[in-house]
Amino acid sequence: MTAGLHAGAAAAPALAGGRGNVLELDAVTKIYPSSPPVTALRGVNLTVQAGELVAVLGPSGSGKSTLLHLTGTLDRPTAGTVRVTGLDVAALTDRELAGLRATRIGFVFQQFFLAEHQTALDNVADGLLYTGTGLAERRERAREALRLVGLADRPAARPTQLSGGQRQRVAIARALAGSPAIVLADEPTGNLDSATGQSLLALFRALHQQGVTIVIITHDRAIAAAMPRQIEMLDGRILTDTGHTPPLASRSGEAAERLAGFPQAGTP
Ligand SMILES: Nc1ncnc2c1ncn2[C@@H]1O[C@H](COP(=O)(O)OP(=O)(O)OP(=O)(O)O)[C@@H](O)[C@H]1O
Ligand SMILES: [Mg+2]
Repeated sequence: MTAGLHAGAAAAPALAGGRGNVLELDAVTKIYPSSPPVTALRGVNLTVQAGELVAVLGPSGSGKSTLLHLTGTLDRPTAGTVRVTGLDVAALTDRELAGLRATRIGFVFQQFFLAEHQTALDNVADGLLYTGTGLAERRERAREALRLVGLADRPAARPTQLSGGQRQRVAIARALAGSPAIVLADEPTGNLDSATGQSLLALFRALHQQGVTIVIITHDRAIAAAMPRQIEMLDGRILTDTGHTPPLASRSGEAAERLAGFPQAGTP
Protein backbone atom coordinates (compact mmCIF):
# COMPACT_ATOMS: atom_id res chain seq x y z
CA MET A 1 0.00 0.00 0.00
CA THR A 2 1.31 3.42 -0.90
CA ALA A 3 2.59 5.34 2.10
CA GLY A 4 0.05 7.71 3.55
CA LEU A 5 -3.06 6.08 2.12
CA HIS A 6 -3.91 4.52 5.45
CA ALA A 7 -3.10 7.51 7.55
CA GLY A 8 -5.82 9.83 6.33
CA ALA A 9 -3.34 12.54 7.25
CA ALA A 10 -3.12 13.93 3.74
CA ALA A 11 -6.86 14.44 3.66
CA ALA A 12 -6.91 16.54 6.81
CA PRO A 13 -4.97 19.60 5.63
CA ALA A 14 -6.97 19.57 2.40
CA LEU A 15 -10.19 19.73 4.37
CA ALA A 16 -8.83 22.27 6.79
CA GLY A 17 -8.32 24.78 4.01
CA GLY A 18 -4.96 24.17 2.36
CA ARG A 19 -5.06 25.43 -1.21
CA GLY A 20 -3.41 22.40 -2.72
CA ASN A 21 -4.95 20.76 -5.74
CA VAL A 22 -7.20 17.98 -4.57
CA LEU A 23 -7.79 17.00 -8.16
CA GLU A 24 -5.61 17.35 -11.25
CA LEU A 25 -6.53 16.14 -14.71
CA ASP A 26 -3.89 16.56 -17.36
CA ALA A 27 -4.82 15.93 -21.02
CA VAL A 28 -7.25 13.20 -20.01
CA THR A 29 -8.82 11.19 -22.80
CA LYS A 30 -11.26 8.34 -22.35
CA ILE A 31 -12.16 6.00 -25.17
CA TYR A 32 -14.64 3.24 -24.33
CA PRO A 33 -13.62 0.10 -26.23
CA SER A 34 -17.13 -0.63 -27.48
CA SER A 35 -17.86 -1.23 -31.15
CA PRO A 36 -17.60 1.31 -32.46
CA PRO A 37 -15.35 2.82 -29.77
CA VAL A 38 -16.72 5.94 -28.08
CA THR A 39 -14.47 8.88 -27.25
CA ALA A 40 -16.12 10.25 -24.11
CA LEU A 41 -13.37 12.68 -23.03
CA ARG A 42 -10.98 14.50 -25.34
CA GLY A 43 -7.89 15.94 -23.67
CA VAL A 44 -9.51 17.40 -20.57
CA ASN A 45 -7.40 19.63 -18.30
CA LEU A 46 -8.87 20.47 -14.90
CA THR A 47 -7.73 21.28 -11.41
CA VAL A 48 -9.90 21.55 -8.31
CA GLN A 49 -8.45 23.11 -5.20
CA ALA A 50 -9.25 22.27 -1.61
CA GLY A 51 -12.45 23.88 -0.45
CA GLU A 52 -13.98 24.51 -3.87
CA LEU A 53 -17.63 23.87 -4.73
CA VAL A 54 -17.83 23.12 -8.44
CA ALA A 55 -20.80 22.45 -10.69
CA VAL A 56 -20.31 20.43 -13.87
CA LEU A 57 -23.00 21.12 -16.44
CA GLY A 58 -23.60 19.83 -19.96
CA PRO A 59 -25.98 17.95 -22.21
CA SER A 60 -26.57 14.21 -22.02
CA GLY A 61 -23.59 12.31 -23.40
CA SER A 62 -21.16 15.20 -23.02
CA GLY A 63 -18.91 13.17 -20.71
CA LYS A 64 -19.91 14.39 -17.24
CA SER A 65 -20.28 10.97 -15.61
CA THR A 66 -17.16 9.72 -17.36
CA LEU A 67 -15.27 12.66 -15.89
CA LEU A 68 -16.64 11.82 -12.44
CA HIS A 69 -15.78 8.13 -12.76
CA LEU A 70 -12.19 8.94 -13.74
CA THR A 71 -11.72 11.52 -11.00
CA GLY A 72 -13.24 9.07 -8.55
CA THR A 73 -10.79 6.37 -9.72
CA LEU A 74 -13.71 4.08 -10.62
CA ASP A 75 -12.19 3.88 -14.10
CA ARG A 76 -8.81 4.65 -15.65
CA PRO A 77 -8.12 7.12 -18.46
CA THR A 78 -7.08 5.91 -21.92
CA ALA A 79 -4.47 8.69 -22.00
CA GLY A 80 -3.42 11.54 -19.75
CA THR A 81 -2.94 11.80 -16.01
CA VAL A 82 -5.38 11.85 -13.10
CA ARG A 83 -4.04 12.88 -9.71
CA VAL A 84 -6.10 12.77 -6.53
CA THR A 85 -4.54 14.51 -3.53
CA GLY A 86 -1.31 14.49 -5.51
CA LEU A 87 -1.32 10.73 -6.14
CA ASP A 88 -1.06 9.60 -9.75
CA VAL A 89 -3.88 7.10 -10.18
CA ALA A 90 -1.98 5.21 -12.91
CA ALA A 91 0.79 4.37 -10.45
CA LEU A 92 -1.56 2.65 -8.00
CA THR A 93 -2.66 -0.98 -7.96
CA ASP A 94 -6.37 -1.82 -7.83
CA ARG A 95 -6.01 -2.48 -4.12
CA GLU A 96 -4.34 0.88 -3.53
CA LEU A 97 -7.07 2.57 -5.56
CA ALA A 98 -9.68 0.94 -3.33
CA GLY A 99 -7.81 2.40 -0.36
CA LEU A 100 -7.68 5.82 -1.99
CA ARG A 101 -11.41 5.73 -2.68
CA ALA A 102 -12.24 4.57 0.83
CA THR A 103 -10.20 7.22 2.59
CA ARG A 104 -10.17 10.25 0.30
CA ILE A 105 -13.23 10.22 -1.94
CA GLY A 106 -16.92 10.38 -1.07
CA PHE A 107 -19.52 9.48 -3.70
CA VAL A 108 -23.13 10.54 -4.01
CA PHE A 109 -25.30 9.17 -6.84
CA GLN A 110 -28.71 10.01 -8.23
CA GLN A 111 -30.11 6.63 -7.09
CA PHE A 112 -28.85 6.94 -3.45
CA PHE A 113 -27.70 3.26 -3.31
CA LEU A 114 -28.75 2.72 0.30
CA ALA A 115 -29.28 -0.72 1.85
CA GLU A 116 -33.06 -0.84 2.37
CA HIS A 117 -33.00 -3.22 5.34
CA GLN A 118 -30.46 -1.21 7.31
CA THR A 119 -30.95 1.85 9.49
CA ALA A 120 -29.76 5.27 8.39
CA LEU A 121 -27.02 5.04 11.00
CA ASP A 122 -25.71 1.70 9.73
CA ASN A 123 -25.93 2.77 6.10
CA VAL A 124 -23.57 5.60 6.99
CA ALA A 125 -21.40 3.52 9.32
CA ASP A 126 -20.96 0.82 6.66
CA GLY A 127 -19.38 3.41 4.41
CA LEU A 128 -16.42 3.20 6.81
CA LEU A 129 -16.00 -0.60 6.67
CA TYR A 130 -12.97 -0.30 4.38
CA THR A 131 -11.17 1.99 6.80
CA GLY A 132 -10.76 -0.76 9.37
CA THR A 133 -12.31 1.16 12.26
CA GLY A 134 -14.31 -0.73 14.89
CA LEU A 135 -18.10 -0.75 14.96
CA ALA A 136 -18.47 1.62 17.91
CA GLU A 137 -16.27 4.23 16.28
CA ARG A 138 -17.93 3.78 12.90
CA ARG A 139 -21.29 4.44 14.51
CA GLU A 140 -19.93 7.44 16.37
CA ARG A 141 -18.64 8.97 13.14
CA ALA A 142 -21.90 8.07 11.41
CA ARG A 143 -23.86 9.90 14.12
CA GLU A 144 -21.71 13.00 13.57
CA ALA A 145 -22.19 12.79 9.79
CA LEU A 146 -25.97 12.44 10.18
CA ARG A 147 -25.89 15.54 12.36
CA LEU A 148 -24.02 17.43 9.61
CA VAL A 149 -26.79 16.66 7.10
CA GLY A 150 -29.63 17.51 9.49
CA LEU A 151 -30.73 13.95 10.30
CA ALA A 152 -29.47 13.64 13.87
CA ASP A 153 -32.98 12.71 15.00
CA ARG A 154 -33.50 9.81 12.54
CA PRO A 155 -30.61 7.36 13.07
CA ALA A 156 -32.93 4.36 13.43
CA ALA A 157 -35.04 5.10 10.35
CA ARG A 158 -34.81 2.71 7.40
CA PRO A 159 -34.62 4.19 3.90
CA THR A 160 -38.25 3.13 3.20
CA GLN A 161 -39.34 5.32 6.12
CA LEU A 162 -37.56 8.38 4.73
CA SER A 163 -38.42 10.83 1.96
CA GLY A 164 -36.30 11.00 -1.19
CA GLY A 165 -34.55 14.11 0.06
CA GLN A 166 -33.84 12.47 3.41
CA ARG A 167 -32.48 9.35 1.69
CA GLN A 168 -30.12 11.50 -0.30
CA ARG A 169 -29.06 13.18 2.95
CA VAL A 170 -28.19 9.75 4.35
CA ALA A 171 -26.14 9.07 1.20
CA ILE A 172 -24.39 12.43 1.63
CA ALA A 173 -23.68 11.58 5.28
CA ARG A 174 -22.19 8.27 4.13
CA ALA A 175 -19.97 10.18 1.68
CA LEU A 176 -18.87 12.58 4.44
CA ALA A 177 -18.31 10.09 7.24
CA GLY A 178 -14.77 9.27 6.22
CA SER A 179 -13.81 12.98 6.02
CA PRO A 180 -12.85 12.62 2.36
CA ALA A 181 -10.61 15.09 0.55
CA ILE A 182 -13.32 15.43 -2.09
CA VAL A 183 -17.01 14.62 -2.49
CA LEU A 184 -18.16 13.71 -6.01
CA ALA A 185 -21.88 13.86 -6.69
CA ASP A 186 -23.49 12.69 -9.97
CA GLU A 187 -26.92 14.32 -10.42
CA PRO A 188 -27.68 14.15 -6.69
CA THR A 189 -30.95 16.03 -7.15
CA GLY A 190 -31.93 14.22 -10.37
CA ASN A 191 -34.58 12.04 -8.69
CA LEU A 192 -36.01 14.77 -6.48
CA ASP A 193 -38.57 17.51 -6.91
CA SER A 194 -37.22 21.02 -7.26
CA ALA A 195 -38.00 22.14 -3.69
CA THR A 196 -36.12 19.14 -2.29
CA GLY A 197 -33.34 19.82 -4.78
CA GLN A 198 -33.10 23.37 -3.47
CA SER A 199 -32.80 22.17 0.13
CA LEU A 200 -30.01 19.77 -0.86
CA LEU A 201 -28.32 22.63 -2.68
CA ALA A 202 -28.44 24.58 0.59
CA LEU A 203 -26.84 21.59 2.33
CA PHE A 204 -24.01 21.41 -0.22
CA ARG A 205 -23.43 25.13 0.20
CA ALA A 206 -23.32 24.75 3.99
CA LEU A 207 -20.80 21.91 3.67
CA HIS A 208 -18.77 24.11 1.33
CA GLN A 209 -18.75 26.82 3.98
CA GLN A 210 -17.26 24.27 6.35
CA GLY A 211 -14.44 23.66 3.91
CA VAL A 212 -15.57 20.44 2.22
CA THR A 213 -14.41 20.13 -1.41
CA ILE A 214 -17.34 19.18 -3.64
CA VAL A 215 -17.89 18.55 -7.36
CA ILE A 216 -21.53 18.22 -8.39
CA ILE A 217 -22.80 17.12 -11.79
CA THR A 218 -26.15 18.61 -12.62
CA HIS A 219 -28.47 19.13 -15.58
CA ASP A 220 -30.14 21.93 -13.65
CA ARG A 221 -28.90 25.37 -14.68
CA ALA A 222 -30.49 27.00 -11.64
CA ILE A 223 -28.54 24.71 -9.33
CA ALA A 224 -25.32 25.22 -11.27
CA ALA A 225 -25.80 28.98 -11.20
CA ALA A 226 -25.83 28.89 -7.40
CA MET A 227 -22.37 27.30 -7.27
CA PRO A 228 -19.23 29.43 -6.96
CA ARG A 229 -17.53 27.71 -9.91
CA GLN A 230 -19.18 26.32 -13.02
CA ILE A 231 -17.74 24.06 -15.67
CA GLU A 232 -19.65 23.42 -18.86
CA MET A 233 -18.95 20.32 -20.93
CA LEU A 234 -19.75 19.59 -24.55
CA ASP A 235 -18.75 16.58 -26.61
CA GLY A 236 -16.04 15.35 -24.24
CA ARG A 237 -14.43 18.74 -23.77
CA ILE A 238 -14.62 21.53 -21.23
CA LEU A 239 -16.35 24.35 -23.07
CA THR A 240 -16.22 26.96 -20.31
CA ASP A 241 -14.82 27.08 -16.78
CA THR A 242 -15.45 30.08 -14.55
CA GLY A 243 -12.18 29.26 -12.78
CA HIS A 244 -10.90 28.73 -9.26
CA THR A 245 -12.84 30.41 -6.50
CA PRO A 246 -11.12 32.22 -3.65
CA PRO A 247 -11.12 30.53 -0.24
CA LEU A 248 -14.10 31.26 1.94
CA ALA A 249 -13.30 33.62 4.79
CA SER A 250 -15.18 31.43 7.25
CA ARG A 251 -12.82 28.56 6.57
CA SER A 252 -9.98 30.20 8.46
CA GLY A 253 -11.77 30.37 11.79
CA GLU A 254 -14.40 28.31 13.47
CA ALA A 255 -15.09 26.06 10.50
CA ALA A 256 -11.49 24.94 10.16
CA GLU A 257 -11.45 24.11 13.86
CA ARG A 258 -14.60 22.06 13.48
CA LEU A 259 -13.12 20.15 10.61
CA ALA A 260 -9.88 19.61 12.45
CA GLY A 261 -11.94 17.96 15.16
CA PHE A 262 -13.90 15.88 12.68
CA PRO A 263 -12.78 12.26 12.74
CA GLN A 264 -10.32 11.36 10.02
CA ALA A 265 -10.78 8.17 8.03
CA GLY A 266 -8.13 5.55 8.56
CA THR A 267 -6.71 7.04 11.75
CA PRO A 268 -5.59 4.08 13.83
N1 LIG B 1 -19.35 1.94 -20.62
C1 LIG B 1 -19.49 2.61 -21.77
N2 LIG B 1 -19.25 2.03 -22.96
C2 LIG B 1 -19.38 2.71 -24.10
N3 LIG B 1 -19.74 4.00 -24.19
C3 LIG B 1 -20.01 4.64 -23.03
C4 LIG B 1 -19.90 3.99 -21.76
N4 LIG B 1 -20.23 4.86 -20.79
C5 LIG B 1 -20.50 6.01 -21.43
N5 LIG B 1 -20.38 5.88 -22.76
C6 LIG B 1 -20.57 6.93 -23.79
O1 LIG B 1 -19.68 8.00 -23.49
C7 LIG B 1 -20.29 9.25 -23.74
C8 LIG B 1 -20.30 10.08 -22.47
O2 LIG B 1 -21.14 9.44 -21.53
P1 LIG B 1 -21.37 10.01 -20.05
O3 LIG B 1 -22.14 8.98 -19.31
O4 LIG B 1 -20.08 10.42 -19.48
O5 LIG B 1 -22.28 11.28 -20.36
P2 LIG B 1 -23.06 12.27 -19.38
O6 LIG B 1 -22.64 13.67 -19.72
O7 LIG B 1 -22.89 11.82 -17.97
O8 LIG B 1 -24.57 12.06 -19.85
P3 LIG B 1 -25.93 12.10 -18.96
O9 LIG B 1 -26.23 13.52 -18.73
O10 LIG B 1 -26.95 11.46 -19.87
O11 LIG B 1 -25.73 11.32 -17.70
C9 LIG B 1 -21.68 8.94 -24.28
O12 LIG B 1 -21.63 8.96 -25.69
C10 LIG B 1 -21.95 7.54 -23.78
O13 LIG B 1 -22.83 6.85 -24.63
MG1 LIG C 1 -24.20 11.05 -16.53
